[in-house]
Amino acid sequence: MGIVAPPPSALFRLPNIVARAFSTTMSPPSKAIVYDEQGSPDAVCKVRELPPVPIKDNDVCVRMLAAPINPSDINRIEGVYPVRPPVPAIGGYEGVGEVHSVGPAVKGLGPGDWVIPSPPSSGTWQTYVVKEQSVWHRIDKSTPMEYAATITVNPLTALRMLEDFVDLKSGDAVVQNGATSIVGQCIVQLARVRGLHSINIIRDRAGSNEVKQKLKELGADEVFTESQLDVKNVKSLLADIPEPALGFNCVGGNAASLVLKFLKHGGTMVTYGGMSKKPITVSTSSFIFKDLSLRGFWLQKWMTSEKGKECRNMIDYLLSLTRSGDLKYEYDLFISVFLITISISS
Ligand SMILES: NC(=O)c1ccc[n+]([C@@H]2O[C@H](COP(=O)([O-])OP(=O)(O)OC[C@H]3O[C@@H](n4cnc5c(N)ncnc54)[C@H](OP(=O)(O)O)[C@@H]3O)[C@@H](O)[C@H]2O)c1
Repeated sequence: MGIVAPPPSALFRLPNIVARAFSTTMSPPSKAIVYDEQGSPDAVCKVRELPPVPIKDNDVCVRMLAAPINPSDINRIEGVYPVRPPVPAIGGYEGVGEVHSVGPAVKGLGPGDWVIPSPPSSGTWQTYVVKEQSVWHRIDKSTPMEYAATITVNPLTALRMLEDFVDLKSGDAVVQNGATSIVGQCIVQLARVRGLHSINIIRDRAGSNEVKQKLKELGADEVFTESQLDVKNVKSLLADIPEPALGFNCVGGNAASLVLKFLKHGGTMVTYGGMSKKPITVSTSSFIFKDLSLRGFWLQKWMTSEKGKECRNMIDYLLSLTRSGDLKYEYDLFISVFLITISISS
């Protein structure tokens, strides 16, 4: 896919800035993570103070509370993501913030409301963001901040991929590699909510039993390391779970071949990431004797489609699942941005 492997997802809290008496038509000054050219984030990202900007009639000034570092954010900074903001640019694409002040023509949003950019919008790695009201979606303030900040990309990707490719019914199964990723964890849980079985593939690692246990606690039916699947007939490992018609691949290489091995005749594998940077190799027999289909998914393209107009309803649905405890991600995959800020500003 040509997408460079990034570091693990990370989430950071932006520092609290005490609001002082600024003019109602200007934002407070902002602290931002800026890059003037594309390249390695360590080399090109700097923390910079930005001056106040005018708040126009339809603008909303938002004090950012939390913003994640997603693999695609890294790819944008590196310049290898197909769509990226022109430089100089402020990093970040998602996050959650609290409305600080609004322009005189803004209706239905006021100071103290929590908002997320939906669809996601570039430049969230700063303390104050000023954008038109249409960018912002108000959310329930009882949502845990970490989920509010991260709902618009990975969980939505998982939801769409479960809906858009194969007509699945309760009792069916899906298979995926990269099951420890945030998208993978969301697939496990959203599948469970829909009554689907999930077969999950993880990398071989020390502590794989603990990782398997955590995924099972999220609702995974089966979790295998890649080496466990080095057998002639992987389906014999499935017991009562039906052969899956749909598989997801965010790794490539051998891990993609393992997804294909599980798929039933006529099944579909959807590729949405390329973490190993290795190509997907498909045997001739997979096409001739199993008639497998290979598809791809890109959320950013989906957002611009007709269905993309529904994204705020889906976000609200996903956020309700986080509030009810039916959707959660494994936090030790996150790293503190405090450390990142230190490393990029030195
Ligand atoms: N197409 C889209 O619209 C779309 C939307 C969202 C995300 N994505 C993509 O989805 C992927 C997952 O994103 P995420 O934020 O959920 O990821 P994440 O939480 O950062 O997790 C990264 C995952 O990749 C695995 N991984 C990392 N390096 C690897 C390697 N060299 N070989 C094999 N596996 C490796 C990790 O496995 P370990 O646990 O073993 O380290 C982990 O499962 C990324 O490629 C991202 O770009 C695509």
